[in-house]
Amino acid sequence: DLSTSIAGVALPNLFFNASGVWCQHESELKELLDSESGSLITKSATFEHREGNPSPRYVPLPTGSINSMGLPNEGFEYYLNYAKNYDYTNKKPLFVSLSGLSLQDNVKMVEQFAAADLPCVLEINFSCPNVPGKPQLGYDMEAMENALKVLAPIVKKPFGIKLPPYFDIAHFDAVAAIVNKIDNLAFVTCVNSVGNGLAIDFETETAVIKPKDGFGGLGGAMILNTALANVNAFHRRLTGGKQVIGVGGVTSGKEAFLHVLAGASAVQIGTQLKEEGPSFFARVKKELEEIMQAKGYKSLDDFRGKVKTL
Ligand code: DHB
Repeated sequence: DLSTSIAGVALPNLFFNASGVWCQHESELKELLDSESGSLITKSATFEHREGNPSPRYVPLPTGSINSMGLPNEGFEYYLNYAKNYDYTNKKPLFVSLSGLSLQDNVKMVEQFAAADLPCVLEINFSCPNVPGKPQLGYDMEAMENALKVLAPIVKKPFGIKLPPYFDIAHFDAVAAIVNKIDNLAFVTCVNSVGNGLAIDFETETAVIKPKDGFGGLGGAMILNTALANVNAFHRRLTGGKQVIGVGGVTSGKEAFLHVLAGASAVQIGTQLKEEGPSFFARVKKELEEIMQAKGYKSLDDFRGKVKTL
């Protein structure tokens, strides 16, 4: 049994896409709906449509991927309309990712969602590393706390935030303390890409992506341990039933199992979904079910957060 629930909403299984992968256009969202994913989330929306950065802007690497997409998206109204027309009786709940370029834009978008009163769940992105000249909110504790205090009462319902990876225990403490103050902040999604890596082609001596002199967010297998640390750090610190969605480095059922062991209540897939396509969901479900069977676990609750320490 791979069922779970996030923010009080039931998912038939714990797996869905990481925002940004396979979710910019309705045709891609349809493919997620037709897959064995347990849910789906839309591409991070800005108030206006964006073309994003010049290509190449996503490149697979031997142990993951690098990207600097630059928030290409259809604009907020496209995803609001998608959410308005979504069939909420189909068992897969809908998540919507919002990534305003300013707090004012986030306020405007969240207000319109609140006014539409839809059963979808918002994941507000505090961690886009790829817009030139914009530092990400997730690394500015004061700005993050202020944004949450402004946005949470407008959202009203339970919602979540997408966080960047942290690398310092003091930062885990500080961010968790802020999150714990916001009553209707029901989950954190850990982690966004590891920001501003650089991949260089050995033969041509050239950066592999075009934007930002080749700097971009790292994803995939190479970030698994950073992701697990962030999932577990927040799982240990969050109070009041707040949940963690794990994302980072899942290429098979084994890494998904580790994310749940670290404390994840659901697991999102980025790089591997981009590379393998939506049929990945059938494979990873089967692999996780086989692992649970072999270990004698019947439900995710049997092992969620139960990583042992020495
Ligand atoms: C983009 C990348 C991110 O990591 C994110 O959170 C939002 C957008 C992008 O480059 O499009």
